[in-house]
Amino acid sequence: MDTLILKGEKAYSYGAELINKGEIVAFPTETVYGLGADCFNTSAVLKIFEAKGRPQDNPLIVHISKKEQIFDLVKPFSETVDKLINRFMPGPITIIFKKSDKVPNMVTANLDTVGIRMPKSAEARAFIDACKTPIAAPSANRSTHISTTTYKHVYEEMQGLIPLIIQGEDCEVGIESTILDMTSEIPTILRPGAITATMLLEVLKEVKTFEGVVKVALAPGMKYKHYAPQAEMLVVTNCDIANEIYKQKLAEGATPVILCFESNMDKYNNKQIISLGKDTKEACKNIYSAMFEADKIGNYILCEDLSKDELGKSIMNRVLKASGGKIK
Ligand code: TXA
Ligand code: MG
Repeated sequence: MDTLILKGEKAYSYGAELINKGEIVAFPTETVYGLGADCFNTSAVLKIFEAKGRPQDNPLIVHISKKEQIFDLVKPFSETVDKLINRFMPGPITIIFKKSDKVPNMVTANLDTVGIRMPKSAEARAFIDACKTPIAAPSANRSTHISTTTYKHVYEEMQGLIPLIIQGEDCEVGIESTILDMTSEIPTILRPGAITATMLLEVLKEVKTFEGVVKVALAPGMKYKHYAPQAEMLVVTNCDIANEIYKQKLAEGATPVILCFESNMDKYNNKQIISLGKDTKEACKNIYSAMFEADKIGNYILCEDLSKDELGKSIMNRVLKASGGKIK
């Protein structure tokens, strides 16, 4: 299959045509690129699982462009949830609701809940509007690989497997949406992201952050090793350790690469480095792209500890998954 890359109005209308014919299409959002299908068409949804190589017990989230689309997809919800929607949507958040009977079980992997996301990106919204149906979409990467944040990386991952990539700007946020479960007794963050616990507390009285043991029934995706580059990866807590391990890896015949804050670049003379930018906001935008590029120029990735603030901790949630939890 040839994979076409289009942008702008042409891309939205051809993308919608494909979606309405039961095909799948990659599209930009402000978090990461998505791989979408008409959420009511199970044979289209199946194509997503096939193209990604994704296990079918890992549910998809459903993307909408207008608030009124929610009511078809979920059971009635509380006033607090309504406030959350009004405050944070559109934006980089996915809220878990009790699902309506209209949402096919294949989308939610037989759970009685469904994740709903309304992207902020104008490109994503134009595409979803054109489709005139909610779009089930995971991130546009092969299963177990890292998410894609540029259309070129989508192409490298998905070429030959999908008919169309809608080209957009590089993703502004750069990591996947915060997932907030509003069906549990206490609202629970199942995946941290750019909407932080502190921000959610503007609306909620309390919020649990998801830590520790994986609860399969709650967040099926969490049991899979996610977001891993091909290269082995290690998180380093300071520049001296990074320099020391870099030297050691070189001596072992490996090709190391350091991902670091811009301000630390001069601490790594004559070494292969990729700058993540000047602060955690820039690091968030750049992290997946940097891992993708690091994979091309090296086979051992050292990443600085970025957990300077809440957003930094959300990024580290992804980086530590990529490193298999290894930190020195
Ligand atoms: O930013 C994002 O969320 C991106 C863009 C494309 O919107 N999407 C994304 O989708 O990251 P995906 O499928 O790669 O990650 C969604 C995660 C998975 O780990 C899945 O297990 C979890 O959400 N999930 C989906 N439905 C769920 C549900 N009903 N309950 C709990 N977790 C759910
Ligand atoms: Mg994903």
